[in-house]
Amino acid sequence: MRRRSAIAQKLRASHRRISQVRGVSNPRQIRNLALIGFMGTGKSTVGHLAAAHLRFELVDTDQLIEARAGRSITTLFATEGEAAFRARERQVMAELADRTGLVISTGGGLGADPENLASLKAHALVVCLWASAEVIWERVRHQSHRPLLQVPDPLERIRELLAAREPFYRTADVLMNTGLRQSREVAQQVVHQFFEARNNPPLW
Ligand code: S3P
Repeated sequence: MRRRSAIAQKLRASHRRISQVRGVSNPRQIRNLALIGFMGTGKSTVGHLAAAHLRFELVDTDQLIEARAGRSITTLFATEGEAAFRARERQVMAELADRTGLVISTGGGLGADPENLASLKAHALVVCLWASAEVIWERVRHQSHRPLLQVPDPLERIRELLAAREPFYRTADVLMNTGLRQSREVAQQVVHQFFEARNNPPLW
């Protein structure tokens, strides 16, 4: 008995130490599920499926920004520029921090910002959906609503952006390759990870 409590004490002390290193005084709360990752990795589809399974509300940050602004992402980029769009994303992050029971599907650039990632990790399990540049290109090539890909060589642009964002995406709690999987299977895996994390919250 005494031995068990000594182990428990050690674990608590080590958790405290890690928390202090991270500058955090509370263990993580997993109240929501957040999906980050590049365009075309299936965040919206997987988000819908996972939300239905968990009976959570789905919040799509792009849709929320469009609804608030009364303008499409394309128009926002054209009229206000990318920096203003990123500020809108950060504002949405702050607003969602107190909510519970959400699946948050994010725009591709949102999860490549350390501030946004830290904000999400305070209340959500952060799952990054991953795919190679070639798979992404196949999925998005016939779509025209992505301002960052309106360039002469979109595949090259995807490669560049993906390489720049990869270090941030990798700091997600879970990294899931979606390349050869159906969205339904990805959603099942994501939901499974969510339940696991709720029982045993990951450290920062
Ligand atoms: C962006 C991805 C888009 C949207 C905007 C910028 C990005 O969202 O937020 O066009 O920087 O990668 P999706 O990932 O849902 O396409």
